[in-house]
Amino acid sequence: MSLSEEAIESAKDDALAAISSANSLDAIKEVKAAHVGDKSPIARANQQLGTLTPEERANFGKIIGQAKNVVMVALESRTRILEVERDARVLIEERVDVSIPARRRPKGGLHPLTILTNEICDLFLGMGYRVAEGPELEAEWLNFDALNMPPDHPARSMQDTFFVEPLDSHLVLRTHTSPVQVRTMLEEKPPIYVICPGRTYRADELDATHTPVFSQVEGLVIDKGITMADLKGTLDHFARSIFGPEVKTRLRSSFFPFTEPSAEVDFYFNGRWIEWGGCGMVNPKVLVACGIDPDIYSGFAFGMGLERTLMVRHGITDMHDIVEGDMRFSQSFGTGVK
Ligand code: PHE
Repeated sequence: MSLSEEAIESAKDDALAAISSANSLDAIKEVKAAHVGDKSPIARANQQLGTLTPEERANFGKIIGQAKNVVMVALESRTRILEVERDARVLIEERVDVSIPARRRPKGGLHPLTILTNEICDLFLGMGYRVAEGPELEAEWLNFDALNMPPDHPARSMQDTFFVEPLDSHLVLRTHTSPVQVRTMLEEKPPIYVICPGRTYRADELDATHTPVFSQVEGLVIDKGITMADLKGTLDHFARSIFGPEVKTRLRSSFFPFTEPSAEVDFYFNGRWIEWGGCGMVNPKVLVACGIDPDIYSGFAFGMGLERTLMVRHGITDMHDIVEGDMRFSQSFGTGVK
């Protein structure tokens, strides 16, 4: 472009025409680049000022400056108009109707067994116990041998235990939570106060009162001077917390290889005695196997089924309800979320 007043005038007119026909903020941005940007006719005219004589430079400098000013003012006012239009449009397009009813999602909740487990853990945590856990796929030695159940013990026969192939892996699906006792005693020094809830497995058919996958809660205390009276007192408190303040417990002599003496614990509920679980004083042989001196320490252990506890407490008559996961069953227990 050769430098002439007409040329500058027409560059300005082109710019003004482009500005007034720009219909969006994006378009105005392009117009700005094309008409006042570095490569625009007005900018290029400005660059040519250096080639002029001082008088011409002053003259053209003024003309170019005025032209640019006019264009800039037009740009700004058009931009403002487009912004106002955009804001008005956004208010309509992005309008939120706060009166539309929210989409409702059913509230999630915990399974009744989990609710019961949490309740039991809370109870024992409050008495200074710790929650201990162990694997469900367990070493045969921890599930049996360390608990004074030698290889020919009937509980190890194929009918009760799920053995895991290859058989020489010596792994089983734990048949009770008692191996967690052993793990705890091997890992920690007394005093030990633990509660261990968990899933357990026995080769039973699923029917109204049995399930091959069930849950137990195990308690273990090892300390100086622990007696059967401590066990009884703990079970009484446990039973009253779970079944109600009027509930009584009784111990019936029994046998477990890992406790001596051993007992079954029953509780009196709704007018009858109900079998709850096994318990006893930890067999000194088990203490020795776990590196604890039975001359200094003694302890008790107990274990009960959680499904059975839940069934009795809530009058559930069919195990299927607990294992099948029908939401209608679970929902009647609430969400369990506090
Ligand atoms: N583990 C035993 C069972 O499953 C229950 C039990 C636990 C007995 C602790 C005594 C002490 O039958």
